[in-house]
Parts: sequence; structure tokens; C-alpha cells
Amino acid sequence: MAPRDRAVPPALDVHVTADDLRAAMERDVRDGLTSTPKSLPPVYFYDDRGSQLFDAITRLPEYYPTRAERGILEIAAKEMAELAAADTLVELGAGTCEKTRVLLDAMAATGHLARYVPFDVSATTIQRAAGELANEYPGLRVHAVAGDFHRHLGRIPGGGRRLFAFLGGTVGNLDPDQRRRFLADLDTVLDPGDRLLLGTDLVKDRGTLLAAYDDAAGVTAEFNRNVLHVLNRELGADFVPDAFAHAPRWNEGDHRIEMWLRADGPQRVRIAALDLEVVFDDGEELLTEISTKFTADGLADELASCGFELEEQWLADDGAFLVTLSRPLR
Ligand code: AVJ
Repeated sequence: MAPRDRAVPPALDVHVTADDLRAAMERDVRDGLTSTPKSLPPVYFYDDRGSQLFDAITRLPEYYPTRAERGILEIAAKEMAELAAADTLVELGAGTCEKTRVLLDAMAATGHLARYVPFDVSATTIQRAAGELANEYPGLRVHAVAGDFHRHLGRIPGGGRRLFAFLGGTVGNLDPDQRRRFLADLDTVLDPGDRLLLGTDLVKDRGTLLAAYDDAAGVTAEFNRNVLHVLNRELGADFVPDAFAHAPRWNEGDHRIEMWLRADGPQRVRIAALDLEVVFDDGEELLTEISTKFTADGLADELASCGFELEEQWLADDGAFLVTLSRPLR
């Protein structure tokens, strides 16, 4: 990092506008609520309230992934930084600054760190992350990119050696097809010297998994219902969120937690912005999120089939969580 004492103002590239986001939301909600079973993409959980609720989730006694991943980073960030020998940290799905700092500090200690590139679909989120980090790391060039994971990975600025970090287990939100497409896209975007650091939650006993998504304090239930509040506000819908029960399930065959909302009594919902009326039978369920759990070998195979070669895997103390460093096979 350049020895300077003043923050370098962050650059911001916006490839998705508020209009794009709005159009995508309308399309996603119409498609999801007219499908069988009904479903909504998890990305709409995260308005301000949803982000706060998620933050509260990461501090719950039952929700182990955040702590487990942080533990791995605290122990292994130095090794990760040395192996990657990168001058740029690209953070996919940024906004999780706490983990970023652990990685940035380790990269700074190698003497190579020059640039931080937060990438997220939300320009607001990215701008906040960029501003905070630019202030905290004088001399660090911050180049924020607001883009869509499916379309704009290629717009991530190149040059140098880049460490792409996708942490938190968020890759588990993708279904197998989406995941394959995402990893294959990423493989084409990475240059030979670049590295991918991926955080993934692991398969474990059903009780531990379910408790992490069904906490005693009911925070996850409120987070789940928050997507209905978002649709009410953004699309003029008239969901009664409290008429939907939080119903998480462990899908053993597909090794994933599924979060559903179950209609408590028949519901008729009008979504004004879509001019759409949606009917829920009593007990009908709406799928709001999948959270896939992996095995170390399964993930290595998946990465290999998408063009990545495994470099190192770090397991949490109790084996709960995995961080994998890999490089594009060329
Ligand atoms: C942020 C996607 C990793 O899947 O565990 C937490 C979101 N959902 N509790 C996860 C979440 C319910 C979380 N990710």
C-alpha cells in the first residue's frame, strides 16, 4: 500500500440503475408468485430492516456460520494472503466489512495491497463499503462496482493480481444450475494469476442446521417475513406478514436448508404495481431461500468441473464451515 496519509476518494461504476433493479424485481416477483410452488429470490430480504435483521442473525447463539468463518479467517488470513500474493481484493457481495478488514490487513502485511474492489448489486451498499474502507485504509485505491452477478462480472477492473472473495456461504443461495453458471462465468473472468476464495457452510447434523434457521428468539422468522414487508412497500402489495408462519426445512436429498413461509389460513393478496392477484390456500407454502450445505470433496469436484484447481482448504475448528482457495485451470 502506498505510504500516504490521506484517503483516496473511491471510484464508483454503476452498471445497474435503480430502474434496472425495479424492473428485475417486478419480473422476479411476477414469475415467482405465479409458479408452483410459489417462490421469491432471497435478494429481496435485504432492505435496511432486512440487513439489520441479518446482522442480528449473525450474532445469535444458534447461527454458527458467521463465527465459524471469522474464526477461520482470523487463523488463516495470513496464509491466504501469502498464497494469493494479490495486490487487489475483489469482494463479491460486499457490505460485510468486518471480514474484509481481516483480509485487507493480512494483504497489507504482505506489502502488496493496493486496491479494493467491492462488487454488489446495490449501489448504495457498495458506496457505503467503499467510503468506509477508503477512510480506514489511507493509500488504498477503492474502486466500487455496482453490477449484476450474472451480467457484469466482466466489468470488474483488471490488472495486477486479484483475490476474488465470496464469503459468508452466500454461494449456497444459488441452486445447482445457477451455481454452475456463476462459477463457470467467474472462471472466464479470472486471469491466470487471480485466485478465488470461497466460503461455504458444510453438511452437518440436522438439529444444528435447523436450529441455525429457526432460532429461539424468532429473529430468522422475522427476517423471513421481511420479504413480504418489502413487497408491500415497493410494489404496493397487501400481504399480512403475520399471517405467514416461518417454516424452515432440511432437504436431505438436495443437502440444503429451505426457508418457506406457510399461509395461516387462506390469503388473497393484491400486488398493485403488477396488477396481480395471488391466492394462497390454507397451509400453502412459499419458498423464500435455499441455503445449500456442502462437503469439502463435493465442493472441490464442483470447482474442478467449472475450471478451478484447488489450492487450499481451511476447515473451522469444529468442522462446521469451509473456506477454499482455488485458481483458474489454464
Ligand atoms: C447470507 C445467504 C449466507 O444462507 O445462511 C441466514 C442468509 N438466511 N439465515 C444463509 C440467512 C437465514 C445466509 N446467507
